[in-house]
Amino acid sequence: MSDNTSHDNLQKLINIGRSLSREKNINILLEKILIEAREISHSDGGTLYLMTDDNRLSFEIMHNESKNIFFGGSSAPVPDSFYPVKLYVDGVPNDHSVSAVCALKGKTIHIEDAYADKNYDFSGAKGFDQKHGYHSKSFLNVPLKNHKDEILGVLQLLNATENDKIISYSKEIISLVEALTSQASIALTNQMLIEEQKALFKSFIQLVSEALEHKDEVTGGHCTRVPVLTMMFADAINEDATGAYKKFKFTDDQMEELYVAGWLHDFGKVATPEHIMNKSTKLECLFDKINLLIMKFEILKRDKKIEFYKNCLNQESNEKELRKKIDNDINQIDNDVEFLKNCNIGGEFMSDEMKERVDKIADQLISVENKQINILSNNEKENLKISRGTLSDKDFFIMKEHVSLSYELLNKLPYPKHLKNVPFYAGCHHEKIDGSGYPNGYKGDKLPLQARVIALADVFEGLTAPDRPYKKGYSLSKAMEILKFMVQDNEIDKDLFELFINKKLYLKYAKDYVDSSQIDEIDEKKYLI
Ligand SMILES: [Fe+2]
Ligand SMILES: [Fe+2]
Repeated sequence: MSDNTSHDNLQKLINIGRSLSREKNINILLEKILIEAREISHSDGGTLYLMTDDNRLSFEIMHNESKNIFFGGSSAPVPDSFYPVKLYVDGVPNDHSVSAVCALKGKTIHIEDAYADKNYDFSGAKGFDQKHGYHSKSFLNVPLKNHKDEILGVLQLLNATENDKIISYSKEIISLVEALTSQASIALTNQMLIEEQKALFKSFIQLVSEALEHKDEVTGGHCTRVPVLTMMFADAINEDATGAYKKFKFTDDQMEELYVAGWLHDFGKVATPEHIMNKSTKLECLFDKINLLIMKFEILKRDKKIEFYKNCLNQESNEKELRKKIDNDINQIDNDVEFLKNCNIGGEFMSDEMKERVDKIADQLISVENKQINILSNNEKENLKISRGTLSDKDFFIMKEHVSLSYELLNKLPYPKHLKNVPFYAGCHHEKIDGSGYPNGYKGDKLPLQARVIALADVFEGLTAPDRPYKKGYSLSKAMEILKFMVQDNEIDKDLFELFINKKLYLKYAKDYVDSSQIDEIDEKKYLI
């Protein structure tokens, strides 16, 4: 080989190495490896096999230039009729197949003429030749190995050509292909390791969310539905060609960052007490105290009856009057108990009159251990007067802490550079554009698009979820109406809400994740502001 040719080949290898190391899509990388190897060796065809977990070589890319056959990579997938090559048959090494032996021994195998070869079974190639009017002659098989010297796959080149004639692979070409294959192996190993790590991290964050949902049985599904809607928004933003986001695109790294933040946004709930997360009635603590309360009213009835009987013993009393009074008192108590039972179920609104009635009932005294005490403790009274839902201010304060905790805990992880904003995005999911959200009261200028997306997804999921403690899931139209009010009050992003409507994301999401009984007619124009 002349100095010039050697220099050219070296330059080619350097360029190929660069190009392969830049490719992030494994499928395209495999295709590039085969294309470059064919080019450098002037091969008419070739196959790139990858090793499977069960010791087989699967056909990933197949090319035959003169027959215009291209499978895998950017072309059509390899047909299922190409069965993977077994490295072992009935537990014995498969020494009939040249590619299997190449993988088993980890060595390059060069065949000058398949039809003259006595060592290997080329019936597959011969069958192909017959079917397509082709002639397979020279073969070059080179193993791809990773950093642990394990076999990743096999590169098989077919029919080296020169001046339209099939020739054998020269020593120089074999060395060149081996050098290329070792570069390709590094690029492939890197991408496989990256993909494996990504897959592991992805499964881990999903596992964390699943664990949270076991803890939070009432809002179960929230942690897995919010990231779905978050990514629906992200895709719609990337596809928006005419609206507010026509000039904006999330990069792949940003998409991954948003995905992780969406999955982990409520991570802080790991530390929220379960009796607050799952508080389904106002008096529920570690258990629902309503029965204790009913017992106290039984004591009140008992006291009234004792008083009645004592009064009856008085000669001057009018028994008829007394009986009328005790009947009224007992009726009133039963009525109050029903009223309190009703108050105990959290609702959307509690009127001032109802709260006053709770206060009035609470003032009644009962005798316990010779002491006169109020029938409702202050704590019971305050809980029963909760205006909306089932959480008291104190409960709500504890509940709100999950967001700061999401930020604090997630901030402890050593993220790669492209995921460094995960804690911030997750920690902003209860912030509102007008600054009325929590935990930091950040206004719009501090809230990036990613945080706004998760916040909107979080609200919509919450409104339509069928499983909240104090309410059934809202109908689609009611949820949209509430979102509209939130946009008007400058709490959530107007452009995102418009995208939500215009791209029918609300419907796409609802079809898969909202109970069909909640999906009603939506007049989109009504919600566009
Ligand atoms: Fe949250
Ligand atoms: Fe959430």
